[in-house]
Amino acid sequence: MTTRIDGKAFAERVREQVAHDVAALQAQHQLTPGLAVVLVGEDPASEVYVRNKGKQTAAAGMHSVERKLPANTSQDELMTVVAALNDDPTVNGILVQLPLPEHIDADAVINAISQAKDVDGFHLTNIGMLWSGGESMVPCTPLGCLMMLRDQLGDLSGKRALILGRSNIVGKPMAALLLAQSCTVTIAHSRTLDLAERCREADILIAAVGRPEMVKGEWIKPGAVVIDVGINRIETADGKTRLVGDVDFESAQGVADAITPVPGGVGPMTIACLLDNTVTATCRQHQIARESLR
Ligand code: GUN
Repeated sequence: MTTRIDGKAFAERVREQVAHDVAALQAQHQLTPGLAVVLVGEDPASEVYVRNKGKQTAAAGMHSVERKLPANTSQDELMTVVAALNDDPTVNGILVQLPLPEHIDADAVINAISQAKDVDGFHLTNIGMLWSGGESMVPCTPLGCLMMLRDQLGDLSGKRALILGRSNIVGKPMAALLLAQSCTVTIAHSRTLDLAERCREADILIAAVGRPEMVKGEWIKPGAVVIDVGINRIETADGKTRLVGDVDFESAQGVADAITPVPGGVGPMTIACLLDNTVTATCRQHQIARESLR
């Protein structure tokens, strides 16, 4: 039997913990964590995502700030908005929604965010801290994947982990996190030779390449835990569309010990981890031990 890891229920538990810690920060320290989201332009998928973030931030008892800017906003104007949020003491976390319009240098904007408020964990200092074992902000999607793996497997030490995909947002930070958990980590990508064989060696398989149902059941080591980060919209035979992951969910059944479904797996964890990171950032900015809130 393959366990279906319920990311929706897991995210709910993370959000409950966040709401508890927010209430404790207010009661014990008169602090309300604030999360600012900056959206440039009118990408419909980004708008939905930003709306959901706003709702969940408020539902957790946090202060939510939204800065919606037109698509023709200049680099300087965006930098001015980021600088103002850096200086705003009621804002503890800042997220600039990606992708940004082409005329904007996204790296320059991300690195202009105060490292302590970078709840995405995309700032170069946070990347360096993550790899060197320091106190960093951890990117939300890999953090959510790690939480689910720890919940499923407990100690990850000595496990063979294969990460399919080498993006800065998922693949690379995921590798750093699993290395810190003493896994033996392989990062595979489009040029990897004997990909199916490499996958079959893995106790933990993370698929984050954006290729619909690419990973087949016969690529999976019997008893492995599979985390599917892919969200791909495909057309079905009747002309409708549906969401699928990077793993062929059907053929993974009966092979994997556990797998995250798409939708309802990794997806809901990302915003929950963003809220969690905002509480972590608030605590660090005020030298409060998070455990003291429990
Ligand atoms: N666009 C899609 N996902 C993300 C994310 O996690 N952070 C940011 N900043 N932009 C995104």
